Amino acid sequence: MRVIRFSADGFRNLKEISLEFDPELNILCGRNAQGKTNIMEAVWLCSGERSFRGAKDKELIGADADRMALLLDFEDSRRTQTVSYSMLRRDMKNKKLELNGVNVKTPSGLFGAFGCVVFTPEDLELSKGAPDNRRGFIDLSVSQLKPSYRGVVEKYRHILDQRNLHLKHIGQGRPDDGMLDIWDMQLAQMGSYITVLRYNYCKKLQRTAEKLFSELSGGGEELVTEYHSTVFRELDGRNDYRGDLFGEYIEKLTAGRNEDIRAGFTLRGVHRDELKCSINGMNAKDYASQGQHRSIALILKLSQAYILSEETGEYPCILLDDVLSELDSVRRSFIMEKIRGMQVVITCCEEETVKGCKGRFFRVEGGRIVS
Ligand SMILES: Nc1ncnc2c1ncn2[C@@H]1O[C@H](COP(=O)(O)OP(=O)(O)OP(=O)(O)O)[C@@H](O)[C@H]1O
Ligand SMILES: [Mg+2]
Repeated sequence: MRVIRFSADGFRNLKEISLEFDPELNILCGRNAQGKTNIMEAVWLCSGERSFRGAKDKELIGADADRMALLLDFEDSRRTQTVSYSMLRRDMKNKKLELNGVNVKTPSGLFGAFGCVVFTPEDLELSKGAPDNRRGFIDLSVSQLKPSYRGVVEKYRHILDQRNLHLKHIGQGRPDDGMLDIWDMQLAQMGSYITVLRYNYCKKLQRTAEKLFSELSGGGEELVTEYHSTVFRELDGRNDYRGDLFGEYIEKLTAGRNEDIRAGFTLRGVHRDELKCSINGMNAKDYASQGQHRSIALILKLSQAYILSEETGEYPCILLDDVLSELDSVRRSFIMEKIRGMQVVITCCEEETVKGCKGRFFRVEGGRIVS
């Protein structure tokens, strides 16, 4: 997967920029607040995913612009494709999205076309921060391989919010009008499906991450990543999300209702599952050092790129936003070595960070490319 050309206008502070990408290394260099991450974010949106900054649509349109427009030409091993993404300030709900000139209804309709992996300084907190970040990491990884997955996760979230509100009302004395039965059924259907996809992804993740981590640590440390379900004790060899797993899920949800009513929210389910990471048998969240957390994050992200390329047969484009300056020289060389052959875009404030790198330089200033 290689970006050939990218242009953007009216996206945050970006003004009529157009970049001809190098097939291998691209370096966006500039002082703070000039638009480097904005370029990364705009390229990322062309993959169909939401902003990695969690931004709302209205934040994406330039403060003084009426319209934002992105155009990305990229190629994989078979053909050249074009994503066009535009949005008017007065009609943000109706984005205009096209893949190869054909209208696509929603950004998720772009899934599966332009594959990329983004790595930001926030990702360095992956194994240290809240479980929600790790669930988000798996969900993103799975949705890149299975485009319809994202919609199921969103629907699950929506039903869960309704169930939780209903639990609170019941706790305050309102009788259950039978809605719990309906929602539990839906949550169990979607939850079993999400569990299977996440669990299977985590098995692949374990194989890839363990190998890479051992290499990075010189063989002295063993990383184990495991999917921990709050519903199922044992998942090995179980894939029947319509039958066996669904049955157990609904049973647990029903049995836990009184406890849920007391708590005021749903205690079990995929929304509380965990990706557990441990080094040499010690849970990373509680025991890992700062450097170990960085290594885990680096390896999880690298594994995401490796699995995506194994499953799709295409290398993803790698966006490294400000991470190289956050890593020491050993980890920096390791990642650059491991993504060799893939197209990479990196940002930096100091040219010093990328001294000796052979690639195309773009100097970003005030939302424009100045050289
Ligand atoms: N909707 C918007 N309209 C206009 N400007 C915006 C909008 N959103 C963000 N900006 C501006 O974009 C700039 C930030 O750009 P960006 O995050 O890309 O900086 P950067 O070059 O990556 O900087 P750093 O090195 O600090 O990470 C800020 O000046 C911010 O005010
Ligand atoms: Mg930035």
